Amino acid sequence: MYVCICAAATTQQVHAAILSGARTVDSIGDRCGAGSGCGSCVERLECLLAEAEPRTRADEELSRSA
Ligand code: FES
Repeated sequence: MYVCICAAATTQQVHAAILSGARTVDSIGDRCGAGSGCGSCVERLECLLAEAEPRTRADEELSRSA
């Protein structure tokens, strides 16, 4: 499913950007272009970041303790 029409970026691409270290809308845009056009998808990108935060925080804590 497309989350950003301007960049033709899918939810899967945004999740991949978050998994690769994107923690802000701008850093998602750097990785896949989402959010870097008209801006109408920014709220959805912020929701995807918020949904992923507990998982990404746990991954970061695990990598720090390893
Ligand atoms: S729909 Fe994402 S920047 Fe326009």
